[in-house]
Amino acid sequence: MPHFIDLAVAGRAGLRIILDEAHRRKAARAGLPKGAPDADAPLAGHVLAMIFEKPSTRTRFSFDVGVRQLGGSTIVTSAADMQLGRGETVADTARVLSRMVDAVMLRCANHATIEELGDTATVPVINGLTDLTHPCQAMADMMTVEERLGRPVEDTCWAWCGDGNNMAHSLIEAASVMGFELRLGVPHGYDPDAAIVATAGARGGTVDVLHKAAAAVDGADVVVTDTWVSMGQVPPKDKLAAMAPFQVTARLMAAAAPNAVFLHCLPVHRGEEVTADVIDGPQSAVWDEAENRLHVQKAILLWCLGKIG
Ligand code: CP
Ligand code: NVA
Repeated sequence: MPHFIDLAVAGRAGLRIILDEAHRRKAARAGLPKGAPDADAPLAGHVLAMIFEKPSTRTRFSFDVGVRQLGGSTIVTSAADMQLGRGETVADTARVLSRMVDAVMLRCANHATIEELGDTATVPVINGLTDLTHPCQAMADMMTVEERLGRPVEDTCWAWCGDGNNMAHSLIEAASVMGFELRLGVPHGYDPDAAIVATAGARGGTVDVLHKAAAAVDGADVVVTDTWVSMGQVPPKDKLAAMAPFQVTARLMAAAAPNAVFLHCLPVHRGEEVTADVIDGPQSAVWDEAENRLHVQKAILLWCLGKIG
């Protein structure tokens, strides 16, 4: 049973299978009520456990509705309401859940926690965000770019602007696995994790960490950013000032390709990482991007459970 803890496990072929399945299923159910099952209901009889250590809107609703559309059901809980919150080990939790559910989605702070769950679980474990990575969001981002630009993500060039955070890390992995160019404009002191960048380079990816927003965005097909302060982070007091030159503005978007797509995983802080005219403007694909969490995670579940690929 493969986990979906990091993008590299599926490899380029696996990620392509997942993206194609997501596009296909989205088209096939156009016009259906959101709670109606897909015609084949491939996860009938299956149950997904969803465990949250941190808040969530998109991840919670997209997995829950997605599993219903696949014909299955979910159990949603906060980690604090489980014995995990009183010190039961992650490994023992994995052993118990593996006897009761068909897959587990976890959103947690420490990446080591989800790796520990994956080490012991005998059912697939899906990463719903850690402080290190957010692979499901990167999949939705790639799906959205393919929809908007009408060509494979492999043939696009992306620019990240802002913090070298969990989203940046998953896009670095995505770029190096799928083989698209990614330039990151980040302030000095807020670079992405050096080991993740090095692994991407060793994989043969074209991932460049720059320290100028304009240089990152120059001619890019996709401009993507995220909050400057992630969940649970206590930022250094000069962080927002350091980030300010990396704000995505209409002027910065004008340096990208003429039909460039703007992405943001949400939630957004208008006037911080992006101006309102950009995120609410015609180049923004953020609402499609949010919806595509639903479609791509259905395909991720099917891949993990051996129904596709
Ligand atoms: N983008 C994203 O993961 O949103 P939530 O925190 O609302 O799940
Ligand atoms: N970097 C953000 C992503 C939220 C979906 C965070 O971790 O809070």
